[in-house]
Amino acid sequence: MQWRDNGLGFSPVTIVLHWMVAALLVAILGLEIAMAAGPERAADMAADTGLAEVQNLLGLVLFLVSIYRFYARITSVHPLPVGTPNPVEVIVSRSVAAALALAMVLLPAAVWLSRAAGGAAVVLPGGHALPRLIDPAPGLKALVDTLFAIGGTAFLAGLALHLFGAWKSHVVLKTPAVQRMLGKHVEL
Ligand code: HEM
Repeated sequence: MQWRDNGLGFSPVTIVLHWMVAALLVAILGLEIAMAAGPERAADMAADTGLAEVQNLLGLVLFLVSIYRFYARITSVHPLPVGTPNPVEVIVSRSVAAALALAMVLLPAAVWLSRAAGGAAVVLPGGHALPRLIDPAPGLKALVDTLFAIGGTAFLAGLALHLFGAWKSHVVLKTPAVQRMLGKHVEL
């Protein structure tokens, strides 16, 4: 089995992790929306159904998977582009992809740090809590929250660009880039 990407294609590990991260992100954002449904309901729902704990667990899995994924991204060759894209677009799309992979490490870490600085623990289903990284520090929490807001906005902008690139190559340029990311063998 091919474990690492090479010039000819993505490895099955990369493909599985890519879609796993996308699914985790959708689930985490979906839970965030569900919990923000209303101020009173949010507290009830979180307490009754343990949604916050499930979200914490998904965030932990995302964080751990993303550490390997970012390492693999920056230490593997990015496969040759399909079709004949503009070289500037290739550089931009690869840089955005690497930045997205890095954001999936930094943003969960910022949440963990912010919770600890606010005196709160990251509680998982079953009541297990992750160790608090630091003692409560309100000033640091405000700083981390600001950085999270900036980083989160930049991440969403990068993701929008990434999705636009996928749409453009699939619908406009009609290259098999998306099919390749779904595991199809593509002749270069
Ligand atoms: C429906 C959602 C998505 C679609 C359609 C999509 C599509 C693609 C495609 C077609 C490629 C291959 C680009 C190439 O050939 O060079 C790719 C690569 C990549 N995508 Fe996405 N993507 C999606 C979601 C995401 C998300 C949520 C993230 C990260 C948060 C992400 C991060 C990456 C990264 C880092 C790569 C480089 C390969 C790797 O190391 O995994 N993508 N994506």
